[in-house]
Amino acid sequence: MTTFYVPLNRTSGIPLHRQIYDGCRRAIVEGMLRPGQRVPSTRALAQELDVSRQPVLTAYEQLLHEGYLEGRTGSGTFVSAALPDDLLRSETPQAERTPGIAPRRARQSASGDRKADGLGPFRMSLPALDRFPHTIWSRLVARHAHALSHAQMAYGDAAGLLSLRGAIAEHLRTARAVNCEAEQILIVSGSQAALRLVAAVLLERGQRVAVEEPCYPGARAGLGAGGAELVAVPVDDEGICVSSLNKLGRKIRAAYVTPSHQYPLGMSMSAARRFALLDWSLSQNSWLVEDDYDSEYRYVSRPLGALQGMDTHQRVVYIGTFSKVLFPAVRVGYLVVPPLLWERFVQAREAFDLFSPTLYQLALAEFLREGHFSRHLRRMRGVYLERRNALLAGLARHCADHLTVYNADAGLHVAVLLSRDANDTDVVQRMAQRGLTATALSSCYSGAGRRSGLLLGFGGSSERRLLHATGVLGEVLRDSA
Ligand SMILES: Cc1ncc(COP(=O)(O)O)c(C=O)c1O
Repeated sequence: MTTFYVPLNRTSGIPLHRQIYDGCRRAIVEGMLRPGQRVPSTRALAQELDVSRQPVLTAYEQLLHEGYLEGRTGSGTFVSAALPDDLLRSETPQAERTPGIAPRRARQSASGDRKADGLGPFRMSLPALDRFPHTIWSRLVARHAHALSHAQMAYGDAAGLLSLRGAIAEHLRTARAVNCEAEQILIVSGSQAALRLVAAVLLERGQRVAVEEPCYPGARAGLGAGGAELVAVPVDDEGICVSSLNKLGRKIRAAYVTPSHQYPLGMSMSAARRFALLDWSLSQNSWLVEDDYDSEYRYVSRPLGALQGMDTHQRVVYIGTFSKVLFPAVRVGYLVVPPLLWERFVQAREAFDLFSPTLYQLALAEFLREGHFSRHLRRMRGVYLERRNALLAGLARHCADHLTVYNADAGLHVAVLLSRDANDTDVVQRMAQRGLTATALSSCYSGAGRRSGLLLGFGGSSERRLLHATGVLGEVLRDSA
């Protein structure tokens, strides 16, 4: 149990509940109480402060209401795992009412690097965890945990649970125009694991794999893990430059692409480029690896179908994930594997770590089957549209002199370009000092000709928080100019 000091002045005229509220809040802001820590019960704190229970109850209620504390049924009251927005606010009314507290700095010096909690505004790849239907999900997980049979507790199928594979296949056929059956779906622990599998099955040491330039760094790490040679191929407004691919000469075994939402720049691959790419793979007898990591969210037109669905020659290995549409820690992703490669993929998957945890597969299959997944997706499209619009409005208001929005059509992040001479890594470091967790665009390049810019995730932050964060970003950019 955490104890902390709440100074009370009984002659100040300030109500006791207000003083208790201020003291608790200060303890949280200054890091004496850390996210996830349990706080004393109202009864224990009242006893310790020698006051009646009522002012403590009132103070806790307010802290719960503002998101500083969270209650967990049956186990007590805790400091919220996710920081409330106001902690990032330098001019909040509460901060004004609490002299001597500089919320942002105090919190950082107390807990060290804000990035460590991974939840600062602009954090990439973070969905709206606050909007996840926890109650439904926990009910499903609990139900399956209770009912787990001996067979389900034993070793599972390397390919994954057939009920889950069937539900995913149905979703992919209708929502993503993927041409697939349950028998082609291989469940893995997220797209990163899928990329490692692709490397293990398709890429021998020294063989060449084309990757987009700029590219998702995790793809480079995963595909190159077995010693394959990575060949960076530039992208233009239509996606990977097939003319450059054609000029590469010596055999390219596979090409990694993000056609629905190029990572990191954000554009989608044109239909003409998709056909050219499919022609290239056929003529070269090469594989295409399609990473469809966040294609469900598109704000300017209907979601585009997957490249895999346009492929009539079974050259595409398709990768999807639940990290963005549910939450990253669920660690469930999947591949749609061309029949010719199926046996090799299953064997390699088994060699890695046998199979994915059965309990989450059971819960997820039901989450899809009962319609919670499609409902969640529909709701989240509206939420993300509003978050993206708030980010764009904030950028226009606070940062327009220092950056240009490159693409904001889809996904959970916006790519912005800085002036050519701006050092984006330096800007990202300065942002981190102010509690913002952005990614430097230049970090996604492997060769010369790096563009300077920022990747600003908006999925994991409320509109209010994003608006405020763009104000801070504006200050950072002005200071760095
Ligand atoms: C383009 C891309 N591919 C793959 C991944 C990895 O996702 P997962 O959590 O499923 O491993 C990410 C994560 O952000 C991503 O941005």
